[in-house]
Amino acid sequence: MEALKGVKILDMTHVQSGPTCTQLLAWFGADVVKVERPGVGDATRGQLRDVPKADSLYFTMLNSNKRSITLNPKNPDGAKIFTSLIEQCDVMVENFAPGALDRMGFSWEKIQEINPRMIYASVKGFGPGAYEDCKVYENVAQCAGGSASTTGMLGEVPTVTGAQIGDSGTGLHLALGIVTALFHREKSGKGQRVSAAMQDGVLNLCRVKLRDQQRLSHGPLKEYSQFGQGIPFGEATPRAGNDSGGGQPGRILKCKGWDTDPDAYTYFITQAAVWKNICEVIGKPEWIEDEKFLTPEARLPHLNEIFETIEAWTMTKTKFEVMDICNPLNIPVGPILSMKELANEQSLRETGTIVEVDHPERGKYLTVGNPIKLSDSPAVVKRSPLLGEHTEEVIKEFCNMSDEEIKSLRDSGAI
Ligand code: COA
Repeated sequence: MEALKGVKILDMTHVQSGPTCTQLLAWFGADVVKVERPGVGDATRGQLRDVPKADSLYFTMLNSNKRSITLNPKNPDGAKIFTSLIEQCDVMVENFAPGALDRMGFSWEKIQEINPRMIYASVKGFGPGAYEDCKVYENVAQCAGGSASTTGMLGEVPTVTGAQIGDSGTGLHLALGIVTALFHREKSGKGQRVSAAMQDGVLNLCRVKLRDQQRLSHGPLKEYSQFGQGIPFGEATPRAGNDSGGGQPGRILKCKGWDTDPDAYTYFITQAAVWKNICEVIGKPEWIEDEKFLTPEARLPHLNEIFETIEAWTMTKTKFEVMDICNPLNIPVGPILSMKELANEQSLRETGTIVEVDHPERGKYLTVGNPIKLSDSPAVVKRSPLLGEHTEEVIKEFCNMSDEEIKSLRDSGAI
């Protein structure tokens, strides 16, 4: 059975962070009713469009398994429908700019009055403080949360990552907050406010860099390449290129074909426990007894020499050959997979991590499936809804209205 079956979510989210959260809850089986502005809808429906007049992939890949209704809570009739939805739903999720829900006339106090069991969850760019009123998008969060200052090559500009840790990352954090509050409500009978700030979510994901910030006051970060290169450390955690963030040194190395294929690379970790295997596989058995390389500590100043030598070997193999040779020897490596390779990866299709769905406007498209697998509650991915596709169905279900009444709501611009 679907794990969240019966949980009703009033989804006021838009763009990416909030929709990520509610899509996750929908995959787990919650009934997610996405509320969109009449005639307009979520702005992402029209952003980065690849098929004329069809909902964009940006929208379709963030809104699977949801129902869509159009409703304007600022319209007096719309406010009545909205109130009815608040009364009957378990969770309300939003990620508008700060204060937008209050301006609609639905403050947290008012929501609690209408439904004391309601869990009201929000994503904002920043938590309380100097920047609490700011509008925030993904890259701003990556910059404000410590990711950009610690990503990229040493001496080069701060860099944002392709993983949407500000938006999708915070959506994930929020989903956990919601499920936790639902669990708590089982005992307390009361709803509560759940907030996740994008800056906080990014910083939470960058915790190892905050770890390194504190280690800096006790000496250089010896596992960073710059230590071996004799480059002094400054006052803040530096950009570490592709250095491993853990205690086992690792780097991205060229593989056969790198000069024509931008993704012909492997990640290679010089795991201490298999150092002997590494020396043998790269044709350097004499390193096994060499004082210079004998312990992980001894190897730190020589990481450049070590990785250059390993790379001379990886360049003679494809990234998949490196994987095939190293895996049985317990040497941790990973091919750099392109989006093209991932889109065609059969094992990801088989596990439902990537799925193909059919859409009335755009035809078949690929989307992500639930990356979290429950043994008894598999997620079946359904295409995203068209704008207002379920307006009548939902209003009849929640408000018990006739066709005539729904028509007059339409005429007044409430839906
Ligand atoms: N009916 C009528 N009006 C509606 C509506 C509906 N169904 N849904 C939204 N609106 C209105 C809101 O009331 C608000 O109007 P107001 O500003 O006059 O009060 C407006 O639409 C939406 O405002 P806003 O959230 O400011 O949208 P934006 O496009 O200007 O800003 C963000 C987008 C993402 C920057 C902003 O929403 C934000 O900072 N969100 C929080 C952080 C976040 O989630 N960022 C990541 C997004 S991926």
